[in-house]
Amino acid sequence: MNTPRIALVTGANQGLGRALVEGLAARMGKEDLVLLTGRSERRVTDAAREVAQLPATRAQVRGRALDVTDTDAIARLADELRAEYGGIDVVISNAVARVLPHESQAARADEFIDVSNTATHAVLRSFGPVLRPGGRLLVVASSLGTLGHLDRRLHPLFDGAGLDQVEYAVESWRNAIHHHTAEEAGWPRWLNVPSKVAQVAAVRAVAAARRERDLATGTLIASVCPGMVDTATSRPWFSDYSQAQSPSEAARAVLDVVFAEHVDPALYGELIRFGKALDWHAGTPLVEQDRMLTP
Ligand SMILES: NC(=O)c1ccc[n+]([C@@H]2O[C@H](COP(=O)([O-])OP(=O)(O)OC[C@H]3O[C@@H](n4cnc5c(N)ncnc54)[C@H](OP(=O)(O)O)[C@@H]3O)[C@@H](O)[C@H]2O)c1
Repeated sequence: MNTPRIALVTGANQGLGRALVEGLAARMGKEDLVLLTGRSERRVTDAAREVAQLPATRAQVRGRALDVTDTDAIARLADELRAEYGGIDVVISNAVARVLPHESQAARADEFIDVSNTATHAVLRSFGPVLRPGGRLLVVASSLGTLGHLDRRLHPLFDGAGLDQVEYAVESWRNAIHHHTAEEAGWPRWLNVPSKVAQVAAVRAVAAARRERDLATGTLIASVCPGMVDTATSRPWFSDYSQAQSPSEAARAVLDVVFAEHVDPALYGELIRFGKALDWHAGTPLVEQDRMLTP
C-alpha cells in the first residue's frame, strides 16, 4: 500500500485557497488527506464539510484552524505532521489579508505584512524541512512579484538575498511605513507590490539553498501567480472583472504544477504563471494611479 500523501493549504476557507483544496481533494487518492486551514475554526470546519461532500472529492478533507500570523502555531503544526505522518507532500501558502480600496494602506500594513510575508517566512522555515522527497511547497504570489515592480533603489534588498536578508528588508519596509519615511525611500504606497516581491524573493532564497538536492528527488519549491481571480478580495478593486477567472479555473494551473510528474528545472525556485517562469527582473514600478489589483 502506498504511503498516504498529506497536503495543506493556508487561507483555504474561501477564494482561491478553497478551490485549491477542492482540486487537491479531487486529484489525490482516497487514502490521502487534505488539510483545509484558515483562521476561524468554524469557517474551516464548515468549508471542509462542504468540500468533503462534493461529488468529485476523493481524498479525505479535514478542517484545521491555523491563523498564519501565529508563527509558533505554524511550527507546531509542521512538527505535528512530521510526528504523525513522517512529513508532508504538498504545502500551499495562500492566505492574504483583505484590504479594501477605501482603506488606508498604511493603517492595514501590519496585518497585511504579517499574513503575507511573516507567515510565508514561517511556512518556508517550518515546512521546508518536513517536505517529503517529491513534495511541492508553493507560495501564491502574483505577477506583481517580479523585482522590476519596485523602485531601483530597493532592488539590492531583494536581489540574490538570503531568507534572513529578505526578512530584514520586510521589517525595514514595515518600519519605514510606521515612521512615514516609506515613500521617500522608494516603497510604493500600495502594499501588494513590495509584499509580493518579498514573497517571491523569500522563495528564491530558500530554493537556492536546496536546489540540487530537491531536483535530485523531484521536489519543487516555487512561487505561483494565479492570474486575475474573481474573489471577494479582488472584486472591490475592479470595475470590470469580465476577464477574471473563477477560483476553480485559476486553481487548475497551480494544481498542474503540483501534479506534474517531473519537476522542470527551469521552474524550480521561480515565479510560475500558467506553467512558465516569469523573469525575476521584469516589470516596471507602478504609478500611484495604477493601483489596480494586477494579477
Ligand atoms: N484574486 C486575485 O485576483 C489574485 C491575483 C493574484 C494573486 N492572488 C493571491 O491569491 C491568494 C488568495 O487570494 P484570494 O483572492 O483567494 O483571497 P480571499 O478570497 O480573500 O481569501 C483569502 C483567505 O486568506 C484567509 N486569511 C486571512 N487572514 C488570515 C490569517 N491571519 N490566517 C489564516 N488565513 C487568513 C482568509 O480567511 P477569512 O475568510 O477568515 O478572512 C481567506 O480564507 C493571495 O495570496 C492573493 O494575493 C489573488
